[in-house]
Amino acid sequence: MAFSDDLHQPVLLKEVMQYLITDTDGLYIDATTGSGGYSCEILSKLGKDGRLISIDRDSEALEIASKRCPDERQRFVKARFSQISEIISQNEMVRGVVFDFGVSRMQIKDNDRGFSFLSTQRLDMRMDKDESLSAWEVVNTYDQKRLEEIIRNYGEERQAHKIAKAIVEMRKRSAINTCIELSECISMVVGRRGKTHPATKTFQAIRIEVNREMDEIKEGLKGAFEVLASKGRLCVVSYHSLEDRLVKSFFKDLHLGKRLLILTKKPLTPTPDEIRSNPSARSAKLRAGEKL
Ligand SMILES: C[S@@+](CC[C@H](N)C(=O)[O-])C[C@H]1O[C@@H](n2cnc3c(N)ncnc32)[C@H](O)[C@@H]1O
Repeated sequence: MAFSDDLHQPVLLKEVMQYLITDTDGLYIDATTGSGGYSCEILSKLGKDGRLISIDRDSEALEIASKRCPDERQRFVKARFSQISEIISQNEMVRGVVFDFGVSRMQIKDNDRGFSFLSTQRLDMRMDKDESLSAWEVVNTYDQKRLEEIIRNYGEERQAHKIAKAIVEMRKRSAINTCIELSECISMVVGRRGKTHPATKTFQAIRIEVNREMDEIKEGLKGAFEVLASKGRLCVVSYHSLEDRLVKSFFKDLHLGKRLLILTKKPLTPTPDEIRSNPSARSAKLRAGEKL
């Protein structure tokens, strides 16, 4: 089975739509299509001349999304969102771009994709299976110093030194092949903190490294702003402080340069009701801006 039937539940859906759509006959970009939660909702709001480009770097996600609400106003593109300005031709007037960072529920739940610390499969974590760098290479070939930096910087893990050392010690005996082997190695040196699994931060860090997520966000935001028409809207949903910091400072710089109107003075967060029905939404933050 490639994906679980359990689709990703779109986060802050109503709020994203309110900020994103200003012209129902315009062109919109869903830069992180996933299972198409936002894409289907955008299409339901557009008129007959509206158009949508749905991007994802994961071809399995696009396959799911394409079956969900087939529509001739929509085009699917398998690409990284950092390539957005190559996908859109110069004469196209983009009215809105939405980003919903991170991984989808289907990617995490699919044991074979090797994202979850409970997975018994090979360490993988590639959102795009055509890429060559996987979590296995990061865990088994990076030197201790580099591993420690990644775990500290991308996982904001205070015990990065201890964890990197334990990984290197363990792999001297034999390669760390599966997700569960890695999470057990981490659990041996880091105690459980409340309900959170001790490997959570390290897994986040490795995933970010494998998919070059921070560079993608920087380039993706820049490209999206470039292709937006004047008065076009940029909506960004982030899930952890590293992502949100990049978005916040990107918005702030453009605002200072009088090129962007910030529409969300403070980022919007999900209501307690949304968090109850979709706990994965709990850390979400939505920032929206309008190109001047
Ligand atoms: C949180 S999910 C999006 C869920 C979607 N909004 C929905 O409602 O179904 C994030 C998606 O973005 C994709 N993604 C992450 N980084 C990407 C990048 N740099 N370029 C293109 N797609 C990316 C992932 O593969 C994943 O499918």
